[in-house]
Amino acid sequence: MNTESLHPSQPASLHPWRMSVAPMMDWTDRHCRHLHRLLSRHTLLYTEMVTTGALIHGDVERHLRFGVEEHPVALQLGGSEPADLAASAKLGAQWGYDEINLNCGCPSERVQRGAFGACLMNEPQLVADCVKAMVDVVDVPVTVKHRIGIDKVEEYGFVRDFVGTVADAGCDVFIVHARNAWLKGLSPKENREIPPLRYGVVARLKEEFPHLTIAINGGFSTDEAVLDQLGPVGGSGPVDGVMVGREAYHNPWWMARWDELFFGAAANGLTRERVEEQMVEYMEREAAAHGTHWYAIARHMLGLRNGLPGARRWRQVWSDHRLKTLPAREVMRLARTKPNEARAMDLQEAAG
Ligand SMILES: Cc1cc2nc3c(=O)[nH]c(=O)nc-3n(C[C@H](O)[C@H](O)[C@H](O)COP(=O)(O)O)c2cc1C
Repeated sequence: MNTESLHPSQPASLHPWRMSVAPMMDWTDRHCRHLHRLLSRHTLLYTEMVTTGALIHGDVERHLRFGVEEHPVALQLGGSEPADLAASAKLGAQWGYDEINLNCGCPSERVQRGAFGACLMNEPQLVADCVKAMVDVVDVPVTVKHRIGIDKVEEYGFVRDFVGTVADAGCDVFIVHARNAWLKGLSPKENREIPPLRYGVVARLKEEFPHLTIAINGGFSTDEAVLDQLGPVGGSGPVDGVMVGREAYHNPWWMARWDELFFGAAANGLTRERVEEQMVEYMEREAAAHGTHWYAIARHMLGLRNGLPGARRWRQVWSDHRLKTLPAREVMRLARTKPNEARAMDLQEAAG
């Protein structure tokens, strides 16, 4: 498969999976992705995981609606029934997603009870059947996000056989969270921190399967760490792509440099103030079109000024529930007011 042309808005010379923001439940909703798209034109964005049950029995529009500006955007599915996944993937493709991704990395107990997520790594043939069922009904790429092992199994052969089996079913793109999932005894949060990162395993997968696209995930927070994996623009590194999760969410301003640093694009001239204004414009459009409260959108941009003087106060204003009755533009004005000009009294008065 020629992966170069799959996401049309990517520069032709660069790999579509070169940079992506990870699927994160409760975090990477469409408002969050709107912010991330303002910051980087070329980064591939993933939805939160949507289960097949939610799509087949629930409110499809609520789960799948997204803005055209979000492209390229991938829908992540959670499930383990080939027929349900095929039906869900079809819906995703009809709604215009650029990729369908299957979650084989989530260790939460709730997800294990549904017998999907990371525990699927113990059943490579079932995952292969799921992938095949999806590939048969959609034209967009079907990809898999997984871990490097389950529990204490650290043999490379385990993840190699998983990738080999699933690739044979028609998956050409693997996003590998470079740590094991320990299915018992750790919370999902601990499972993102405690099992050690082993980037070498992911590089080895790329060596063994050079024709597959292999993107690495887990613990990326600096330019250098990303470039070590990708190599310079125009060159190559040990893997094809880097997926960033928590750092992109907590420190979104890092993303403003990604197009230039990792895709070789011209500097975008963005400022945090301009991005904040664009978010307020978006809040106004969302309120008018869908009745969305600005509060549901602002929560994703609270890290925008991290590291700058006054960031704490700016964040406090944008997350002050007493201000919920004010228009977003007024909240922006208050957030920008110098602390000595804005006594707590003023905020309270403003909030009525
Ligand atoms: C709040 C939160 C929710 C997450 N939800 C999902 C999810 O729905 N699907 C998934 O595959 N991974 C999920 N993850 C895992 C991330 O996609 C990613 O693999 C993990 O955070 C490691 O990357 P990082 O170190 O860059 O954050 C979640 C992570 C966080 C922090």
